[in-house]
Amino acid sequence: MALLPILCYPDPKLHTVAKPVAAVDARIRSLIADMFETMYEAKGIGLAATQVNVHERLIVMDISEGRDVPLVLINPKILWASPETHLNEEGCLSVPGIYDGVRRSDAVKVDALDGEGRQQLIEADGLLAVCIQHEMDHLMGKVFVEYLSPLKRNRIKTKMLKALREDRP
Ligand code: NI
Repeated sequence: MALLPILCYPDPKLHTVAKPVAAVDARIRSLIADMFETMYEAKGIGLAATQVNVHERLIVMDISEGRDVPLVLINPKILWASPETHLNEEGCLSVPGIYDGVRRSDAVKVDALDGEGRQQLIEADGLLAVCIQHEMDHLMGKVFVEYLSPLKRNRIKTKMLKALREDRP
């Protein structure tokens, strides 16, 4: 296992649209293990492959308190999203330190493969539904700050670029 570097907004690579995973093979299983290690180390609840610069439709998540309920979504498809929406405060490992409100469906039904390549149907609401929608956006090249006003987004961009410069003198 290995920790993977996480891309930081506004890195243009975060806007890459991911391709489907062709086969759940040894390479993908090893990527899943590395992504979980990276996500747990960064204290995140979800990580999309896009964020570690792998542009394939793969997400790892764990929204449990005990950090012991890992969930893998490969080639996820939203089958249904509730018309009811909710404004939730979101954050992202690719936009460290920034939290803001994003409107999402309250509940979703998602079809995906699990880490063994088996079909799974997930009916999610609450935090899990929010997390799935947030991570699936990453696979489409979308970061949550793109839902915010251009003014807010530009402020965040400036802040992130400044932090990057200070990190690497
Ligand atoms: Ni994110």
